[in-house]
Amino acid sequence: MPLRSSRWYSGHDRNSYIHRAWMRRGLPDAAFDGDRPHIAIANTASDLTPCNSHLDEVADSVKQGVWAAGGVPLNLPVVSLGETNVRPTAMLWRNLAAMATEEMLRANPIDGVVLLGGCDKTIPALLMAAASVDLPAVVVPGGPMLTGHFRGVPLGCGTDVWRLSEEVRAGTLSGEAFLRSESSMIRSRGHCNTMGTASTMACVAEALGMTLPGTAGIPAPDSRLLERAHETGGLAVELVKEERRPSQVMTRGSFLNAIVTLAAIGGSTNAVVHLLAIAGRLGVKLELDDFDRTGRGVPLLADLQPAGRHLMDDLFRAGGLAAVLKEVEDLLDPAALTVSGRPLVAHLAGAEIWDESVIRRRADPLLPDAGIAVLRGNLAPDGAVIKPAAASPELLSHRGRAVVFDSVEDLNARLDSPDLDVDETSVLVLRGCGPKGYPGMPEVGNLPLPAKLLAKGVRDMVRISDARMSGTAYGTVVLHTAPEAAAGGPLARVRTGDPIVLDVAARRLDVDVPAAELAAREPVVNGYAAPRRGWERLYVDHVMQADKGVDLDFLTGSSGDAVGRESH
Ligand code: FES
Repeated sequence: MPLRSSRWYSGHDRNSYIHRAWMRRGLPDAAFDGDRPHIAIANTASDLTPCNSHLDEVADSVKQGVWAAGGVPLNLPVVSLGETNVRPTAMLWRNLAAMATEEMLRANPIDGVVLLGGCDKTIPALLMAAASVDLPAVVVPGGPMLTGHFRGVPLGCGTDVWRLSEEVRAGTLSGEAFLRSESSMIRSRGHCNTMGTASTMACVAEALGMTLPGTAGIPAPDSRLLERAHETGGLAVELVKEERRPSQVMTRGSFLNAIVTLAAIGGSTNAVVHLLAIAGRLGVKLELDDFDRTGRGVPLLADLQPAGRHLMDDLFRAGGLAAVLKEVEDLLDPAALTVSGRPLVAHLAGAEIWDESVIRRRADPLLPDAGIAVLRGNLAPDGAVIKPAAASPELLSHRGRAVVFDSVEDLNARLDSPDLDVDETSVLVLRGCGPKGYPGMPEVGNLPLPAKLLAKGVRDMVRISDARMSGTAYGTVVLHTAPEAAAGGPLARVRTGDPIVLDVAARRLDVDVPAAELAAREPVVNGYAAPRRGWERLYVDHVMQADKGVDLDFLTGSSGDAVGRESH
């Protein structure tokens, strides 16, 4: 089978002349002989995505590996999303990054691609793009940063920001000490060092079979990451020669492996929407309920923040993802392939646990059941999710009085008011923060607790929203309520004072108000003006709900790599 790139470069006509001539710039004649796979390096390096700012160095190692294997490496900068910088929320731009990357992979003369990501949305966007084009592809995750310390105590990125800022609000930590911790938080290059969304999606990418096995979780400054990047460059050339495509790797079995992995590592709830979106691009049948069914009974084995104590460099030191997966090997699909051409389980043979305080044995888990629970009820007809591993066990069955906020701004304005009618048994409800309503479904679902309750020592309450939460956050937090308030979901009809009933064991989330009364109420949607132009307009008009992965409705299904026309 001729290489795809030879459709641009082979022949003696004017068009092939143009394609070759402009690409030469130091490339040898042999680069265009039709035998050398042209490998794009889709690189999300950016100074404004600090977690990915080191990826140019990783790209250099990939390039060396591509050359050594007889390919031609080509740097392809793609849309990058820095979680801490991009407003109004990076999730608004995930689909834009995926769409732009998909189109550039398809439009260019390439045969395969190495995907370099790290910060939260970058690996999901790259995988969505690769799934849509279905060119041979492999991910190199940029790796977590090393652990910083403050006053002798390790700091977990994100998780400790939430914890320390709550301590300031509670009056147990001075503002000055809080600010001094800032320079200790980010010790090195790399993404957040907790099992937040970036670490989760790196591990999930490996469980899906889309990395060179053993790569996810290598700390960003560790020289072994560059070694793996070099090997991955060579693998990309092999993938093209073998015609091994994402659709052969990311099968339903691989997605179920990813769900088992998600539970065993105590991964982020954000993986739910990302996996649903990636599966949607491939036409793989994956539903919200698969997360509950497949994750149920999977033990939590990685003792990492936010569900546990340790951080990502501890996980790598203790044996890495493979050691975790080895403990749950019987729950994994033995047939699900990786980019190596061998099944995921075939790569677990040599895995060992070196520190059982970080990676627990199956017989001694942190929690016996760590799966993400999918709730339904008259508050969430199309589902909502909760991560019981990060919740307070005593709140998993709870009845309380709703205290409703119509928007993030409403929350910020009233939360700390001494007049707010709230106690520790109340249920905080935030609406207007879903895919359409915000728009972009921000990570505000772990709403802060009212200051007067923090001062009383309260550290967790039941919270419900149509938003997401940071993978570094924790608490008894119900997220992704679908349909969202702005799409006509029942959250829009809840009023302060309504009794809310959460029963995680029964997988129920209800408001105890007669159906007729609820239906008769005027829905409340917040006052954010619908965008009239640009990406936001396209997004709001076409974004699907959380149970469908928050992708755009016209981007589901693969389009392949064919380009029908030529302008020269
Ligand atoms: Fe980039 Fe956490 S902010 S991974």
